[in-house]
Amino acid sequence: PLKAVIFDLDGVIADTAVVHHAAWKRLADEIGVPFDDATGERMKGVDRRGSLDILLQAATRPYTEAEKHTLATRKNDYYREQIEHLGPRNLLPGARTAIEQVRQAGLKVALASASRNAGLLLERLGIADLFDAVVDANRISRSKPDPEIFLAAANALGVAPDECIGVEDAAAGIASIHAAGMAAVGIGQPLALAKADLVLPSIAAFDIGTFTTTRTANWR
Ligand code: BG6
Ligand code: MG
Repeated sequence: PLKAVIFDLDGVIADTAVVHHAAWKRLADEIGVPFDDATGERMKGVDRRGSLDILLQAATRPYTEAEKHTLATRKNDYYREQIEHLGPRNLLPGARTAIEQVRQAGLKVALASASRNAGLLLERLGIADLFDAVVDANRISRSKPDPEIFLAAANALGVAPDECIGVEDAAAGIASIHAAGMAAVGIGQPLALAKADLVLPSIAAFDIGTFTTTRTANWR
C-alpha cells in the first residue's frame, strides 16, 4: 500500500528552478561560457558542483579546482541574494494544498532536495512544519540520479521504497526515484520527463486520490 509521498523542492513546490537558472546564466555570461535552455534543463535536480561541471563542458579552457570552488560559491551568492526576498507567495500554486492532501489522507510526507539551501527555503516559504522528514544535499553523498536521497527519505519516514511515490520536475530526479524502486510523478513537460510513470503539467494538478483509490497499474 501507498504510505508516503516524497517531494522534490525546486521546481515542484517552490518557484525556484527559474532562480537557479538565472544565477547560472549570470555566472555563465560573466565568464563568457555559452549557456542555453537545454543546458539549464540538464542541470535541473543536479547538485551545485555537478551543475557547474555541466556548465563548464562548454568552456574553452580547463578550470582548476580552486577556480571551480570560487565559481560555485559565486553562483550560490547570486542565488542567495534572490531567495533572501522569497516568502509564501513563492510557493508554486497548489503546492501547499498538495502536501496537505497527502497528510489528510493519512500518508507521510518527506522532502528530497539536492539543494544545500533547502532548509532556508522551507523556512522562507513557511512550510517547514508540514514535512515528517527533510533530506537535503547536506545529508547525502551521491547526487541525483543516484537513488541515495530518495532512499534516505523513505528510511527517515520508516517506510519501504515500494510504498512511496516520488514527485520531481527533473529528469535526473525521475531516474533517482526509479532507481530507488519508487513510482515517479513528473511535474512539467512530458517530453523532458518521458520516463515518469505519470506527468502532470504542474503541482496544482496533483490529486492524491489518483494514487489511493486506483490500483497502481492504472496510472503507472
Ligand atoms: C536542485 C536544483 O534542487 O538543487 C538545482 O534543481 C541546484 O538546480 C541544486 O543546482 C543544488 O542547489 P544548491 O542550492 O545547493 O546550489
Ligand atoms: Mg527540482
